[in-house]
Amino acid sequence: MSQPKLTIEDLQVSVEGKKILKGLSLEIKGGEVHAIMGPNGTGKSTLASTLMGHPKYKVESGSVTLNGENVLEMATDERARKGIFLAMQYPSEISGVTNADFLRSAINARRGEGNEISLIKFVREMEKKMSFLEMKESFAQRYVNEGFSGGEKKRNEILQMMMLKPQIAILDEIDSGLDIDALKVVAKGVNEMKGPEMGVLVITHYQRLLNYIKPDYVHIMMQGRIVRSGGPELAEKLEAEGYDWIKEELGIEDETVSQRS
Ligand SMILES: Nc1ncnc2c1ncn2[C@@H]1O[C@H](COP(=O)(O)OP(=O)(O)OP(=O)(O)O)[C@@H](O)[C@H]1O
Ligand SMILES: [Mg+2]
Repeated sequence: MSQPKLTIEDLQVSVEGKKILKGLSLEIKGGEVHAIMGPNGTGKSTLASTLMGHPKYKVESGSVTLNGENVLEMATDERARKGIFLAMQYPSEISGVTNADFLRSAINARRGEGNEISLIKFVREMEKKMSFLEMKESFAQRYVNEGFSGGEKKRNEILQMMMLKPQIAILDEIDSGLDIDALKVVAKGVNEMKGPEMGVLVITHYQRLLNYIKPDYVHIMMQGRIVRSGGPELAEKLEAEGYDWIKEELGIEDETVSQRS
């Protein structure tokens, strides 16, 4: 597989008539880890949902391509099949579907008809990945995320990522609610997968995650766009000084996607 490339150009997105993303551009290539940081309500999860094709988010203008193909024309399942993966900030529960069945269907959808994974190979791989992520075997037969603790859900998202081997993985607050050991396990999963065949976008509030998942680029998001990009040192500056300095530099008072406009 060649090195993937996701290109977002001047993306403008609205929800229920309200503009949320106001001209966002970003390029993520295989092997790269990009981190987006930014205060609450600045459009980070909106970007993630839009990339996955959530029907609530209306693309007003701009473009998103994966390896030159127009992502915005694809249905959500097609985006997943093409290798875009989203670990959600609030993972959904799917009652009545076991984790194992869910993963196997998702993998087979991605592999395509006639190229399904054999049951033996699937089980072996799932067991290997679950043990790598220090998950109890019983999680294979539990319904997807049902009754999982916050941390267990996040670990399960990483299991999905490791099984599906996406080209572009978007991890929305994968660190929220994790204890320090779980944080290390989740980071271990991402680092294990890191390589030229996968690009990663991590959305986080805390520099701490980036001690474990080293970003190549850090972007600050405010008012529905990227207002500053840099290296890991940018995250360290935010941790130490917060966001006031950049708001001052930009001459803005309200960093959110303003409710008033
Ligand atoms: N489905 C929706 N319906 C209504 N408003 C929405 C919807 N999705 C997002 N918004 C609004 O868009 C703005 C940006 O939300 P978003 O979830 O993208 O922020 P965020 O940067 O991810 O914040 P946080 O750091 O708190 O997760 C918010 O004002 C939010 O209320
Ligand atoms: Mg969010």
